Amino acid sequence: MDKFNIAIDGPAGAGKSTVARLVAKELGFIYIDTGAMYRAVTWKALQSGITAEDREQLVEIASKLRIELLPGEHGQQVLLDGSDVTGLIRSPEVNQNVSAVSAIPEIRTLLVAKQQEMAEAEGVVMDGRDIGTHVLPDAKVKIFLTASVKERAERRYLEMKARNEDVSLEKLEREIAERDRMDEQREVSPLVRARDAVLLDTTGIAIPQVVERILELTKSAEGKG
Ligand code: DC
Repeated sequence: MDKFNIAIDGPAGAGKSTVARLVAKELGFIYIDTGAMYRAVTWKALQSGITAEDREQLVEIASKLRIELLPGEHGQQVLLDGSDVTGLIRSPEVNQNVSAVSAIPEIRTLLVAKQQEMAEAEGVVMDGRDIGTHVLPDAKVKIFLTASVKERAERRYLEMKARNEDVSLEKLEREIAERDRMDEQREVSPLVRARDAVLLDTTGIAIPQVVERILELTKSAEGKG
């Protein structure tokens, strides 16, 4: 029988990872943040002085990397060839380069295969951009989570301020809009809502309510067998 998987897709800053982690915790499922995998490859490439234009070298790096995602109390821990890169993959440099890296078809093929393998072992809640459309097209529950650009920028602004990072709200808004544009317009697996995904707009809605709604949708999907 197919595994009971939940796919959560949507643009940057819509709250996917927080929501997905909480849903997974409630259900005792494994949470997989696929964005972290694209970020890990991007970080490694930057470390090695390789840009998104050096496709061959990038693919070579990605094919050799061992990426492990481990559940943690405050989110997922990301190990690259055994080293903890959890914080490093969230740097502004990685933010600026990850869309270009994730637009490379060979990189996507490699990472999608890894993601499908991870979902084979146990029920998962997986978040990303192409999970419902491409990685797990048979997921029993598919959610497309979004919020206005303004609200997504404000959420990120508050997170960064709390970490004492110097940041401007206008700049964040511009960056988020630009990342949306790149993720939506790339040729391979662009960010698009799967036809059978439920659209949840979280503008002005608190996280616990969003989690509750997904748990309800899961329950009714389970009922359908
Ligand atoms: O969710 P995130 O911001 O950590 O994702 C980082 C980047 O990776 C984002 O620009 C889009 C890309 N991505 C993707 O192309 N496909 C996925 N399944 C997940 C992320």
